[in-house]
Amino acid sequence: MSDAFEFLLLDVSDRIATVTINRPDKLNALNARVIGELDRMFAALAARDEVGAVILTGAGRAFVAGADIAEIAEAASGPAGLSTVAAFGSRVFTRIERFNKPVIAAVNGFALGGGCELALACHLRIVAKGAKFGLPETKLGLIPGYGGTQRLPRLIGQGRALQLIFTGEMVEAEAALAMGLANQVVDPAGLVDASRSIAKEALKNGPLALAHAITAVTQGAGLPMDEALALEAEHFGAVGRTADMREGTQAFLEKRSATFRGA
Ligand code: COA
Repeated sequence: MSDAFEFLLLDVSDRIATVTINRPDKLNALNARVIGELDRMFAALAARDEVGAVILTGAGRAFVAGADIAEIAEAASGPAGLSTVAAFGSRVFTRIERFNKPVIAAVNGFALGGGCELALACHLRIVAKGAKFGLPETKLGLIPGYGGTQRLPRLIGQGRALQLIFTGEMVEAEAALAMGLANQVVDPAGLVDASRSIAKEALKNGPLALAHAITAVTQGAGLPMDEALALEAEHFGAVGRTADMREGTQAFLEKRSATFRGA
């Protein structure tokens, strides 16, 4: 398989990988090829020790305007129907959610359908003024199929999630912030800087602690509270056995900055 990416751009600087979905003529709509490239990109970035955080964004006026509707329509009438389409997208988005380094969605424009779901699979959402979120699938006679019916209610509550799903309405960045869908709203010109600044803050901290926190939060969210707390305790114990934990606590006691080595 070729290492080249047709629809993704990658820039790595200061330990931050910026992945740009680059299909602007179709508002970065997610066809199977784009989703496959995201899968391959995140697998590659997981293995690159010099990368400590990822920013995911879109080229042009959209973050992602959804799954590729032409491809969905064609797949629906094919022998496998849409189940395999959803299973593939969900698997890739879950890989992103479970990525072992912080993943920040820098939402630069439309984040609709699969684009909203992709942003939901990222750990944080920094949003440019003017960007719009929505799950318009019911307008197409569909439902969200890449995790939207599960991740959105967990993030903003069932009532608000169902309202977005029932109406297919688009919500502006400020409304997304008010409902907890966006972490921060910034001027479009400041989107990259704001996203990098959060990534840089995270990169000052222990990488193993970040990885364990991601697992505890994302996997704990789907568990009953007792099991979720047991999972947290397990990860708390695991970080407690790291050299980074000894360095972090020792540095505090010695009133100096910690130097984490990811061990
Ligand atoms: N799938 C496939 N193509 C898409 C797409 C999608 N989800 N979203 C946009 N495009 C394409 C358009 O077909 C158009 O292609 P063309 O120039 O070859 O005709 C191009 O991207 C630009 O989109 P256009 O609709 O002309 O831009 P607009 O500014 O008038 O409207 C949106 C922008 C986002 C409101 C509109 O494109 C839209 O509603 N997209 C679909 C959103 C959606 O339902 N997503 C969920 C899919 S499950």
